[in-house]
Amino acid sequence: MFNPEIYAKRRKSLHNEIKTGVAIFPGNGEVAFNYPANTYHFRQDSTFSYFFGVNQPDLAAIIDFDNDTDHLFGNDVDMDDIIWMGPQPSIAERGKLVGITNTAQFAGFEAFVKEALAKGRKIHFLPPYRGETKIMLSDLLGIAPAQLKASASEDLIRGVVKLRSIKSTEEIAEIEKMVDVAYLMHTTAMKMAQPGKIEQEIAGTIEGIALANAGPVSFPVILSINGQTLHNHYHGNTITEGRMMVVDAGCESQETLYSSDITRTIPVGGKFSQRQREIYDIVLKANLNAIAAIKPGIPYREVHLLAAKTIAEGLKHIGLMKGDTDAAVAAGAHALFFPHGLGHMMGMDVHDMENLGENFVGYDEETIRSKQFGTAFLRLGRRLQPGFVITVEPGIYFIPDLIKQWKAEGKFIEFINYDKVESYKDFGGIRIEDDILVTESGNRVLGKPIPKTVEEIEAVMKG
Ligand code: GLY
Repeated sequence: MFNPEIYAKRRKSLHNEIKTGVAIFPGNGEVAFNYPANTYHFRQDSTFSYFFGVNQPDLAAIIDFDNDTDHLFGNDVDMDDIIWMGPQPSIAERGKLVGITNTAQFAGFEAFVKEALAKGRKIHFLPPYRGETKIMLSDLLGIAPAQLKASASEDLIRGVVKLRSIKSTEEIAEIEKMVDVAYLMHTTAMKMAQPGKIEQEIAGTIEGIALANAGPVSFPVILSINGQTLHNHYHGNTITEGRMMVVDAGCESQETLYSSDITRTIPVGGKFSQRQREIYDIVLKANLNAIAAIKPGIPYREVHLLAAKTIAEGLKHIGLMKGDTDAAVAAGAHALFFPHGLGHMMGMDVHDMENLGENFVGYDEETIRSKQFGTAFLRLGRRLQPGFVITVEPGIYFIPDLIKQWKAEGKFIEFINYDKVESYKDFGGIRIEDDILVTESGNRVLGKPIPKTVEEIEAVMKG
């Protein structure tokens, strides 16, 4: 938790963005795992935590823009709770930790909102993403659950996105700590990736490192020798020599919720073959070229297209693509191999603020999302600003079903050498991802450098 002044300053900034009405912030509750009393690990809503800092279930908060007041609501525990959970701070004590003196039991939240509604005041709320929150808001506001997203306040969404997009010094420090834990996770995976191991042994070990050093993983670990499936959560394969293993994993701070998101791809057994090295070096070049281009003012879609061109040029060099590189990328032919975006915002959510709407976070009036296969999946396209924390994660994948479909359709035959691509259908995939801070003068790769070149990875894997 940060000091109370930080939370007060964040709320003050929101007061300056939105001048009238009342914003309501339901915190998250517990979610049942297999029966009500057996719950998933509690995870607070990120925006609630950003403004109100308290990561406990069953709280709610209000910012009253008309009267310039902030309120926190939640029930104090009774003896039954104390027996099972131990003594807990009162809501007044929790409020004090984040600079709020207007505190009340949870029923006060409902009473406040009902009174505001009765007076015809504007109620701002963010689009809910959990069923429990939807039901609560639906009951309170009299809006059908299916209509809540459309009824959410665009002013509040824009205000929150504006504030949360720019990371302050203390936020960057938290993210950087999480990247340093990711360093341990990834170098451990490198050391463990010997033939005969089952993916699950490695995935479980690195998840344990996250839990032991920071908090939960920031998203379910992606770890597979079938890296051509972009988000592969199946960990049942025995890893074998000749395969590349994609490890896309990060963690989040138990206390402040800031995250990391790193990908490394390594050769099982520790030595890159010539063919693996050729593809790997193209992806590495795309990663490095993209990072070198990151600076304030550049649209991130331009950086994405630079990475796409680096990939197309590299694939042309080894005979998998052909023709004019710029024309190939403009047409979208590279997306056979790089069918996703270069990266996304990162912060308290690994895809930061995605629940508020990807286009509010990653696009604006100037930069409209592309409709072209591949580039359409870019989550962040708009101009970069100092304080943004973003991922850079180019990849090359050989997806047999996609190759088969495009070949059958004769798609981009002027740019793709399908005969040669056929011989890579057993290759898998490669992705290399870092977390980058946009600075006033350019950028900084966050955290302790995680082995990334062929030589660095082979050295760690050798032990
Ligand atoms: N690293 C996982 C993702 O960006 O979705």
